[in-house]
Amino acid sequence: MPTVILNQRIIRPLLLFGFALSFVIFYLYVAYRPPIALYADLFEAETKESKALLHNEIGNKYVKFKQLQGAGFNNQAQEIMLYHHLALQTSRIYVYQPLIWRPRGEDATVPLSAFMRGLTEGAISESVFDEVCPPDEVQHVNLRIEDTDQWKHAIEILSRKHRCIVVDDKVFTWNFLSSSGIHAIWPGFQGYIRHHFKWSDNVLAIVNRTETTLNLRPQSAPDSAPGAPYIALHLRRGDFEDHCKFLAATHEGFTTWATLPLLQPAVLPPALDTYNATTVLAHCFPALRRVLGAISAHARARPHLRALHVLHDGAWDHPGVFLAFYKLAEALTNAPWAEAEGWTGGPMTSVTQSADVPVKRGEYDFAVCVDVELAARAEVFVGNGYSSLSTQVVALRLGRGGKVDDITLY
Ligand SMILES: *[C@@H]1O[C@H](CO)[C@@H](O)[C@H](O)[C@H]1NC(C)=O
Ligand SMILES: *[C@@H]1O[C@H](CO)[C@@H](O)[C@H](O)[C@H]1NC(C)=O
Repeated sequence: MPTVILNQRIIRPLLLFGFALSFVIFYLYVAYRPPIALYADLFEAETKESKALLHNEIGNKYVKFKQLQGAGFNNQAQEIMLYHHLALQTSRIYVYQPLIWRPRGEDATVPLSAFMRGLTEGAISESVFDEVCPPDEVQHVNLRIEDTDQWKHAIEILSRKHRCIVVDDKVFTWNFLSSSGIHAIWPGFQGYIRHHFKWSDNVLAIVNRTETTLNLRPQSAPDSAPGAPYIALHLRRGDFEDHCKFLAATHEGFTTWATLPLLQPAVLPPALDTYNATTVLAHCFPALRRVLGAISAHARARPHLRALHVLHDGAWDHPGVFLAFYKLAEALTNAPWAEAEGWTGGPMTSVTQSADVPVKRGEYDFAVCVDVELAARAEVFVGNGYSSLSTQVVALRLGRGGKVDDITLY
């Protein structure tokens, strides 16, 4: 019966392999499963709070915008914050919508209050919008003009007296977000961040846990507080290799706040020339040597700063990012290398990364916010002017009174 024996020899390891594989898949499924019950509770609480607000605030005006669907978290967050700011500037109640959780598909919605608490306070959920603004009482408007005066124009239209406005077009197009048109928004937006930006408690709890576990001390904490002061580096790789070639070919510049004149001293040479692809690629997808140079300059100037936390987008489909991280970590912790670079305080003593953030089951959705906040709290931030995550970090830092000297855009 040789065939049977042969089959058993093959089948048994196959079965074992199959079991092991299904276990791994099941484990990943459970670990990465979103907190469904929490989200359901928050959606319900959002509706309840919105209804309470409607009953208390007679005579208010409302605005609902056409928002991005399914872009990355920071693209959505950035746009939502700009819309919220625009609503507040024109004394309207912002009608908020859920975030679209792209990794789980175009229809996967998550409650905004699970991530950013400041946006849902004093605002109403779209789930109750029809109650306060029935369709026949809604004024539909378009706000977009292809002009740097976009913001002023939007303010003018929304300052009109209609009680309920629904905006049918997108105001913050990619073009506008990388144009000088957004510079006029900055002074007010800085105040917006200071007064209205707030993470959810879910996010803040993980940030706290991470600071303890990874021994990181926020810049705002006193020197006597536990943990080491640190540099945060945002390494944007993943899909950027191809994306940057596209941006170079289409002559795109930095995004949003990275274009602010006040930030230009933070931009590592060469100066960005969108008609010189070499400079676009140097900023968008830099060689690791260039990234090391940016960190080295800060480490040389600040001998007490010997911890580095690296935010990156490494994942099973972008394993090269981990390789880049390990190469950086190896150089930065190497004493002869640090000495050759002229660091008097010795090499880095701690290099941690996004993958070290202690997220528990059901917390994976919050990891991106934790990354942003850790970078916003670092003593120094080194990031990418083409990335909305980096520009979000820059906005939070400057909005909270941070200095341009503590930022480098490589
Ligand atoms: C995080 O830590 C700070 C300082 O220790 C504390 O004041 C705050 O309440 C903590 N926040 C959360 C959400 O645990
Ligand atoms: C493009 O920029 C690089 C780096 O600054 C520079 O060396 C090169 O001469 C520039 N090329 C052109 C065509 O200007």
